[in-house]
Amino acid sequence: MAKELKTPKKFKSSSQLWLKRQINDPYVAKARKEGYRSRAAYKLLEMDDAIKCLKRGAIVVDLGAAPGSWAQVVLEKVGLKGMVIGIDLLPIAPMAGAEFIEGDFTEDKPLQQLEKLLYGKKVDVVLSDMAANTTGHNQTDHLRIMNLCSLAFEFSKDHLKEGGSFICKVFAGGTESQLLSEIKKSFSSVKHIKPSASRKESAEIYLVAKGFKG
Ligand SMILES: C[S@@+](CC[C@H](N)C(=O)[O-])C[C@H]1O[C@@H](n2cnc3c(N)ncnc32)[C@H](O)[C@@H]1O
Repeated sequence: MAKELKTPKKFKSSSQLWLKRQINDPYVAKARKEGYRSRAAYKLLEMDDAIKCLKRGAIVVDLGAAPGSWAQVVLEKVGLKGMVIGIDLLPIAPMAGAEFIEGDFTEDKPLQQLEKLLYGKKVDVVLSDMAANTTGHNQTDHLRIMNLCSLAFEFSKDHLKEGGSFICKVFAGGTESQLLSEIKKSFSSVKHIKPSASRKESAEIYLVAKGFKG
């Protein structure tokens, strides 16, 4: 059995915990070896295995894209004829074949920038891995993530092609019931997935919707 690596003594408390988790996390090592910008890549790979939405030539919008590992996965899957446009509050290092916008998706200007890059084209897949900073207050955190999910859903309704897919990070307890029933009306199949690369102790799960009805 692999020996658990020890954390250097100079790191304390929460940073020590984070570092220990990183050092011992097989997905961190795998991402480094396979050239992904973060371990999050494996979450998308697993979800795409389940619903096969990232097809050759697809147009994909990636909300909350930094540091860019989902965009890397998308580019591998959609190939040169496809495209990915990502947006994040944080800057993202350039990536051949991808367009990135630094800005807040909930604000008008960055959203207009994103729409401009689409040149009126409809989108095959909308991905949202956006997560607001947690406050520690469960209700507030839940409302914040639901607000992001709701805005990502509105964006999907405006921009998806018929038959398109929507994958969105939500948190434990799943999607709030009213929003979920609206999403169910717009897609032929909706489920929640907790990918194995999503840490067990994390409350995150993903809403995975397929077959946009237009
Ligand atoms: C878990 S990370 C995304 C990881 C990414 N999927 C990857 O594979 O590299 C969540 C991201 O959501 C971004 N985010 C949160 N709220 C946002 C907002 N309102 N607009 C744009 N990005 C946002 C954060 O800055 C953060 O980088």
